[in-house]
Amino acid sequence: MSTQDSAFLKACRREPVPHTPVWFMRQAGRALPEYRKLREGNQMLDACATPDLVTEITLQPVRRYGVDAAIFFSDIVVPLKAIGVDLDIVPGVGPVVAQPIRTAEDLQRLRPLTPDDVPYITESIQNLVSELGDVPLIGFAGAPFTLASYLVEGGPSKNHAATKALMYGQPELWADLLDRLATITLAFLRVQVDAGASAVQMFDSWVGALPAKDYRAYVMPHSTRVLAAMADVPRIHFGVGTGELLHDMGQAGADVVGVDWRLPLSEAVARIGPGKAVQGNLDPTLVFAPDDVIAAKVRETLEEGAQAEGHVFNLGHGVLPETDPDKLLRVVELVHAGL
Ligand code: CP3
Repeated sequence: MSTQDSAFLKACRREPVPHTPVWFMRQAGRALPEYRKLREGNQMLDACATPDLVTEITLQPVRRYGVDAAIFFSDIVVPLKAIGVDLDIVPGVGPVVAQPIRTAEDLQRLRPLTPDDVPYITESIQNLVSELGDVPLIGFAGAPFTLASYLVEGGPSKNHAATKALMYGQPELWADLLDRLATITLAFLRVQVDAGASAVQMFDSWVGALPAKDYRAYVMPHSTRVLAAMADVPRIHFGVGTGELLHDMGQAGADVVGVDWRLPLSEAVARIGPGKAVQGNLDPTLVFAPDDVIAAKVRETLEEGAQAEGHVFNLGHGVLPETDPDKLLRVVELVHAGL
């Protein structure tokens, strides 16, 4: 067996699989006691720049759950920090940017990323690939829109009001911003794949805030440029609340379209159209339901996923910090047992 023969990469390529592969977004962080222990006394972004910690944290859920892929432990804001943007990840809040980016002058702070800016990423991935054996490693980055939202708002936002005001009000400045972010995202993904990552996921977590027409006009060309440059590995493209955008997100160049829990996968497949695999989409809160409900919903998700040309089982968004790891272990066992 080689990594290329893994169930995960086969499903991404829409080839027949021995069992439905499964991994969880945010599996590397937060829910595991062994993770919390390792993270004691170190800041999130410092941990991301320490190869021994990155390697160990990335491996923890693979050991504990027997998932079919590892997700690299890092954060979408790591490349921004690496080019000198003054930001931090505040526990319980998320990324906070010291000086939001809103003017042409501010944009000068967003220079391209080079591999020399992130030697710890290359080292971590190389370590991981040798530790993981046949288990594929997924690299990832934030998509231009989602990164722009953090930079323009200065932190997490519900309505993305300042972001949209800039997008609609200063379209040329917006295009420059997204072009610069696409260049950074692309370079960050390229470093990971060149170091040995077998697939990439581009997280456009907050792009569901846009109607499809505006997604196509203001965002899609930039996301397309990133994904086109990564065609040597399977590309997963994910967002939350993106039911109305799934077709366009697929057309932006994904091999696998990530679906949140709001749509049944059969409906997502109909919207996405042929030639794509899907990933998802158990509601992350379902692990707090009784065991028989979890089992029924896993089964339903597998039945729905069987409608797709390829299905990677996942949650509809990240693992919640309060999740009982034993429940995720049970989900993996159920997925592997199949229908
Ligand atoms: O499985 C994994 O944990 C892989 C690593 C990973 C992290 N962030 C680690 C992290 C990944 C893939 C991400 C991506 C990420 N980061 C996204 C896209 C995914 C998504 O959820 O939509 C976004 C939007 C971010 C930005 C971000 N970073 C947020 C909103 C938060 C949460 C803040 C909080 O405390 O609730 C973070 C912090 C973060 N990133 C943590 C981890 C493990 C928690 C911080 C900690 O453990 O101290």
